Amino acid sequence: MNQLSRRECLALAGGGSAALGLAGCVNAATTPDGDMPLGPPLRTLASEKGLRFGSAMSSGQLDDAKYREIMLFECGTMVAENEHKWYTIFPDPDTVNFAPADRLATFAGENGLTMRGHTLLWHREMWSPEWVNALEFSSASETADFVEQKISLIVDRYAPAIYAWDVVNEAIDDETGEFRQTSLSAKMGEQLIDHAFHVAKAHAPDATLTYNDFMSWESTSAAHRTGVLRFLERLKARGVPIDGLGLQSHSNYEMPNEFTRARQRDWVAFCDEVVGMGLDIYITEFDVNDTRLKPDIAYRDALIASYTRDYFDLMLAYPQLKEVLVWGMVDDQNWLQTFLPRTDDVEKRPTVYDSDYKAKSMRRALADAFNAAAYRQPMAP
Ligand code: XIL
Repeated sequence: MNQLSRRECLALAGGGSAALGLAGCVNAATTPDGDMPLGPPLRTLASEKGLRFGSAMSSGQLDDAKYREIMLFECGTMVAENEHKWYTIFPDPDTVNFAPADRLATFAGENGLTMRGHTLLWHREMWSPEWVNALEFSSASETADFVEQKISLIVDRYAPAIYAWDVVNEAIDDETGEFRQTSLSAKMGEQLIDHAFHVAKAHAPDATLTYNDFMSWESTSAAHRTGVLRFLERLKARGVPIDGLGLQSHSNYEMPNEFTRARQRDWVAFCDEVVGMGLDIYITEFDVNDTRLKPDIAYRDALIASYTRDYFDLMLAYPQLKEVLVWGMVDDQNWLQTFLPRTDDVEKRPTVYDSDYKAKSMRRALADAFNAAAYRQPMAP
């Protein structure tokens, strides 16, 4: 018997075909399914419904064999966690660092993963390189040239391998709903955003172009939701080439058990308005924050799984939802461990696999939600 590839082995193992076993498989002993029978990969369940499924990955995770294995088993697509961002590519005015993004692109290409691009303009000082924040432009056109040069450098290097770009990230202040101000908007105002989309369109005419933000169902997010809606309306009114809205889907401040009917209604009202503008929607960075849940693992996992199922049932009812990406596949490698740590130092459980690379009940919730979803017209390849 010819040796099967890892991906084929895992597909067989996950396909429920016990009779096939794992004989002939490469390193089958490290199959990351733990005690839970996995069933088909999430990418398969999603694609049966016209959806893409994938995860963020960092170039560091390329050196983690088990992480790679999970990515290749579960995901049809991936997004670079930090490698396309300005702070990685342009850490100082004289450096262009494509090496980490190149490594991810090579991995994706060699393994048949498609790739989402994130992000061409993170319009928020907190995440913009210090040297960019310190720039003082003399005019709008000088700013426009600078931005065009930076964005086109990134897009040209990775087009056409990237099917979608988060062109602009987080341009709306989450507390006020107002457009954020940065060194780049000082002379251009919101025209900066239009310009970023037009440059992306010119250099990647076939890619889906997205605005991505973290407004959510949380009650603390009301001004953010309203601000994003008005912002999208302005973009549409100005004829900006935008195809959809990326719903990051982090729950930052409220806990999974606070996803009440009232909050769901607010969120549905928001999503209805977005799709009413003719935009598609994408879940781009799903993870679950358990900061304020009591530490008991079974308790947290049960709540996280039931929230995951409820959130996805709600979202998958939209035929305009075309893809689902989670923000990392393994708990201890998820950004929330350090960005919003628990006060009791207990490890968070925000993703579909635990820190021993074992699938959690959250994975089952996602699989069940995909199984229950209606078919939708897929986004362009
Ligand atoms: C996060 C990464 O996960 C971290 O490693 C990094 O330190 C900060 O950025 N919204 C986004 C993502 O759009 O790019 C962020 O990723 C998480 C919040």
